[in-house]
Amino acid sequence: MTDRLGLGLTAAASAILALAVSTAAVQPAGKGARVDKTAFGTTREGQPVDLYTLANANGVTAKLITYGALLTELHVPDRTGQLADVVLGFRTLAEYEGGHPYFGATIGRVGNRIANAKFRLDGRDYALAANDGPNHLHGGLRGFDKRVWKGQVVPAPSGAAVRFTYASADMEEGYPGALTATVTYTLTPANELRLDYTATTDKPTIVNLTNHSYFNLSGEGQGTILDHELMLMADRFTPVGAGLIPTGEIAAVRGTPMDFTRATAIGARIGEVPGGYDHNYVLSHGGGVLAMSATARDPQTGRTMDVLTTEPGIQLYTGNFLDGTLTGKAGRAYVQHAGFCLETQHFPDSINHPNFPPVVLRPGAAYRTTTVYRFYAR
Ligand code: GLA
Repeated sequence: MTDRLGLGLTAAASAILALAVSTAAVQPAGKGARVDKTAFGTTREGQPVDLYTLANANGVTAKLITYGALLTELHVPDRTGQLADVVLGFRTLAEYEGGHPYFGATIGRVGNRIANAKFRLDGRDYALAANDGPNHLHGGLRGFDKRVWKGQVVPAPSGAAVRFTYASADMEEGYPGALTATVTYTLTPANELRLDYTATTDKPTIVNLTNHSYFNLSGEGQGTILDHELMLMADRFTPVGAGLIPTGEIAAVRGTPMDFTRATAIGARIGEVPGGYDHNYVLSHGGGVLAMSATARDPQTGRTMDVLTTEPGIQLYTGNFLDGTLTGKAGRAYVQHAGFCLETQHFPDSINHPNFPPVVLRPGAAYRTTTVYRFYAR
């Protein structure tokens, strides 16, 4: 007889396996892994915020808070085994609440820009919060990055995981439909931080969730990322016009400063890109399956990060607007280009470009995307 796992087990063996699986399910973490929960603070409105620490047997740790379902720390080894915190962020909740350019945050309901903060869906016009000149950026005035999510430790057979859930009200920031979003962060024994997103809605709406971590593989606050080598599995990108809104064109990177098809220092041609990189790349794999999308490496320490995603696009943002006025966890100022972001996503302003992959979510359908940040040294 067969079973659901397709292992050809007998009914008795299946029953034992089912028991073993359900027992494992009450264990929050896999072998050598650990999840801790502590208090991080209280918001100005009086909501408590928790901090979850995920650790694996290699000493890698990731810290996440329920405010913004946000990654505050990520400690990974260099080629000598030395750990460093490779994401930009703050020590305190007050600093996050004081305003910041989305350090480590979960972005929603729609990441990136929507031109003129307007869209039309099923014959109806919607006006969103305009929070970037006339345009809508990263979910509006109070996007998912500024909400307190519900945290929950979830079983991870070989790692450590926490799930954050946020229920976004109908018409919040102008978006139709009550939407429930989740993001599950899993730290695996292979030094991967895996982000699994889901969303469901009760009315047609648009969704495009991402994470806005700024990485510096030398360690946060250790200068700029201009000498990091970057490779993007993308030979095309979406050019932008005024306000960084895509023109709708899909252009080849070959022979331009946009070309990262071979490992190239981020700073090599950044001077030729007005304002620095803040562009969406069209991933060659096309999205839909979890596939290699980018590799970044710090030649000094050897720390290397692969990005795998099911998304069709990735925004390369090189911390162009950082100007030294924000001070990070180790007390060092975040200068321009102190970090880079690789925001996996559907293309910016997709809802207003019929030639871009669609971002519409309808009742009964499940939104599901996965992104993996994998760390090693070479
Ligand atoms: C995104 C945008 C940038 C900028 C940053 C935050 O990555 O594309 O233009 O708004 O967020 O400063």
